Amino acid sequence: MRHLNMYSNKNDGPRRGRSFDSMNIGFDEKLLNNELNKSTYKKIEENGEKNTSEKGRATIIFSLKNEVGGLVKALKLFQENHVNLVHIESRKSKRRNSEFEIFVDCDSNHEQLNEIIQLLQTNVNVLDMEQPRDNSCLHKEDMCEVPWFPKKISDLDNCANRVLMYGSELDADHPGFKDNVYRKRRKYFADLAMSHKHGDPIPRIEFTEEEVKTWGVVYRELNKLYPTHACREYLKNLPLLSKYCDFREDNIPQLEDVSRFLRERTGFTIRPVAGYLSPRDFLAGLAFRVFHCTQYVRHSSEPLYTPEPDTCHELLGHVPLLAEPSFAQFSQEIGLASLGASDDSVQKLATCYFFTVEFGLCKQEGQLRAYGAGLLSSISELKHALSGNARIMSFDPKVTSNQECIITTFQDVYFVSDSFEEAKVKMREFAKTIKRPFTVRYNPYTQSVDVLKDTPSINSVVEELRNELDIISDALCRLNKQLGV
Ligand SMILES: [Fe+2]
Repeated sequence: MRHLNMYSNKNDGPRRGRSFDSMNIGFDEKLLNNELNKSTYKKIEENGEKNTSEKGRATIIFSLKNEVGGLVKALKLFQENHVNLVHIESRKSKRRNSEFEIFVDCDSNHEQLNEIIQLLQTNVNVLDMEQPRDNSCLHKEDMCEVPWFPKKISDLDNCANRVLMYGSELDADHPGFKDNVYRKRRKYFADLAMSHKHGDPIPRIEFTEEEVKTWGVVYRELNKLYPTHACREYLKNLPLLSKYCDFREDNIPQLEDVSRFLRERTGFTIRPVAGYLSPRDFLAGLAFRVFHCTQYVRHSSEPLYTPEPDTCHELLGHVPLLAEPSFAQFSQEIGLASLGASDDSVQKLATCYFFTVEFGLCKQEGQLRAYGAGLLSSISELKHALSGNARIMSFDPKVTSNQECIITTFQDVYFVSDSFEEAKVKMREFAKTIKRPFTVRYNPYTQSVDVLKDTPSINSVVEELRNELDIISDALCRLNKQLGV
């Protein structure tokens, strides 16, 4: 996946000390800590309070050259146009060292928004700009502080490309950093994913001989461990994937085939992604049973190590479990709980995701088994987690959500559940403690989320439940007649 990403297959390689927090979304360098004149910011807020009821919340993301005064100049444009800034963050650009990316939430009407965009483009040295996300649908007072979230599956087009790092821009310690051919190939995969829209078929890839060979090593070595290390649901589904999606040592499965297979089994579909998504954007996909997947293969020089998720991790780690209805439901519930939640709550949910979907263990027939994709795609960590030497704790979202996620070494602790059902019940209880002025329910017919925040919206669900209960009642009557009761 990609993720959130949340995870990684690091363990077969050298240990590098990068924590989950540092991999996490970026806008962590608060603008208000820099030279930005705080009184100016305040004035902007005050001016913007006029006519707030006529305005909607919008998000603008743009890049600026890292130069003295550039940011202040940009923000003054908001002030001069009486646009209320409610949230500003910055981060160093992952694409170009000489740039900063600026994230701005503001209250504005459509006209103001267009004007601001034009002014930014003409008056300051804006290098790049993302399409503003209009959050004006959240007008009610109790919803005004809720972060934007997708309401229907096609809304994922608005956030699936908000990647934190592009495919060809590798860190200096990446095995493929000095390999220009590999970097070019990564760019090819990144461009494919960036042009993908909801409903498009996933492009079929003609993998190179080298890529197939790399996949083959991973596939062969992991398959030696699965019979004794993987959970029973994984072992049940892997042969089906071999049968229907050509999971073989000498063939890298196509994401389009896998997506079709998953849709028939659990309603999950796959969406290609160019790089790391923020936890919020990644989890939002799960709410719609959409799993964001990378399509590139790790560098051939280190087939048993990758510093980031690749298609080997997605296909061998995640896919077999996504074909399991109880696991699919568990994954979706984490996603639904994240929609419109605060940054802090999303972080907690992401951590629970990390220690379950990526590194989770379960007990089956008295034995520990792995169901987490980070384990099931990493030979050394899979062995370590079940070696008897790893620290194991019972999965409890309240405790688990505060555990540190480690990206490039083994986890300090693994969490075990008796079943996905048990984990789901615990997550559901935990989700109830998340502060949100509403709850959401997924509508599979329209592939959208219903926001339940008032009596009419709740009544519509009650009506649907009545219809479902009628069906159950009818089925029980017929069964009783057959049994002569
Ligand atoms: Fe993953």
